[in-house]
Amino acid sequence: MKIAVVGTGYVGLVTGTCFAETGNQVTCVDIDVRKVERLQQGDIPIYEPGLDVLFDRNVAEGRLVFTTNLAEGIKDAQVIFLALPTPPGEDGSADLKYILKVADDLGYILETYAVIIDKSTVPVGTAEKVHNAIAKNAKVDFDVVSNPEFLREGVAVEDFMKPDRVVVGTSSEKAKKMMEKLYAPLVRQGNPVIFMDERSAEMTKYAANSFLAMKITFMNEIANLCEKVGANVDDIRRGIGTDSRIGKRFLFAGIGYGGSCFPKDVQALAKTSKDYNYDFRILESVMAVNYDQKKKLLPMVKNYFDGDLKGKTVAVWGLAFKPYTDDIREAPALENIEALLEAGAKITVYDPEAMNNVKGILGDKVTFCHTPYAALDDADALMIFTEWPQFRTPEFEKMGKLLKNKVVFDGRNLYELDQMREMGYTYYSIGREVVIPA
Ligand SMILES: NC(=O)c1ccc[n+]([C@@H]2O[C@H](COP(=O)([O-])OP(=O)(O)OC[C@H]3O[C@@H](n4cnc5c(N)ncnc54)[C@H](O)[C@@H]3O)[C@@H](O)[C@H]2O)c1
Repeated sequence: MKIAVVGTGYVGLVTGTCFAETGNQVTCVDIDVRKVERLQQGDIPIYEPGLDVLFDRNVAEGRLVFTTNLAEGIKDAQVIFLALPTPPGEDGSADLKYILKVADDLGYILETYAVIIDKSTVPVGTAEKVHNAIAKNAKVDFDVVSNPEFLREGVAVEDFMKPDRVVVGTSSEKAKKMMEKLYAPLVRQGNPVIFMDERSAEMTKYAANSFLAMKITFMNEIANLCEKVGANVDDIRRGIGTDSRIGKRFLFAGIGYGGSCFPKDVQALAKTSKDYNYDFRILESVMAVNYDQKKKLLPMVKNYFDGDLKGKTVAVWGLAFKPYTDDIREAPALENIEALLEAGAKITVYDPEAMNNVKGILGDKVTFCHTPYAALDDADALMIFTEWPQFRTPEFEKMGKLLKNKVVFDGRNLYELDQMREMGYTYYSIGREVVIPA
């Protein structure tokens, strides 16, 4: 098939590359000239494990090309994916301006029948809005399909090539057949392509992300209560995760969820509920708890230094909102760093992938280090925000020699309490007893 993907970010680039890998001819379109130039030169602008191998192969074999020109990009395309941003507007709703602008343009330039696919996460009713925006000026027949994306950054290629399920919202038989054909190579093991109406498909994506955000938040509340009653949240996790009705995943307590999806999607579903006069109380609690959770370690740090952080150096391990990505959107590390800077602390940071993105925001306000240990040199404390695997088994003796105080504030519960006790560390984590050396 001939495919166009409009919007070549985390979702668009993975979508385009993976569909090229299954033999389609793909053109990715983006308005970011610099990004398209880099892609045309064979340089991938994001960090996504495993993407480079597929990208290189499909570019080399001519199945994957890039342009800034929408009309050129969609020429002869049978399907056109919209993988555009849907950031939160001021009232929390998903801002549809990027999608509706492209839809408007498509109306003028479509030359033959095409299936236009909303891959972005969009509120209920968007397929209809996109349809109307295109129809205003279209001279040819077309269908609009809702096909929300469930990939996770960090394992996006695997998720895309072997999806748990594919959700497709459409009322058109013709579009349904094309979607079946398109996804057939990705669901050969029998994972379902679930067809439904457009509104239900749009709602499915928000329900999935809000449910996962709720699951994380529930564990964070259990963790907060554990601290008060003297229980260990990791034991609770093992104790409940083995129940098949609950499941083992998304039960790790920490300093709150971040990223480009959960915060904005929970907010957008809450806004949709308000618009339809439904009081979705759980969502309001999820947002309020997560807001507090992200700042949970700060009072502990301040307390440790008797309320005065002026002149103290805090080393930070981990900037990305989760491991295996360079994405820093809504990352807990950033909020914490800004609060620490405001309180007068100096910051040294290390992250294996996300430092370049943070340089664009914080510039020289913090010191970027090439190794985790370099960040510890002469620092007064260590804070951990991302569970990168290389932080899991560090050389504690070396760390102790570099740090001025052997104190760690761990937002990801990376270390065993007994181990930290034996090594003589003061160790704060989430939902577990504070380790204080004898
Ligand atoms: N990132 C994820 O893990 C993920 C997962 C599932 C769903 N989603 C959803 O997918 C959508 C895209 O997310 P993303 O993370 O890929 O965003 P992104 O910001 O990484 O990429 C969006 C791209 O669209 C481009 N763009 C903006 N306006 C354009 C226009 N008029 N024409 C062409 N290109 C244009 C931008 O330059 C950018 O490169 C969002 O709705 C998001 O909620 C994201």
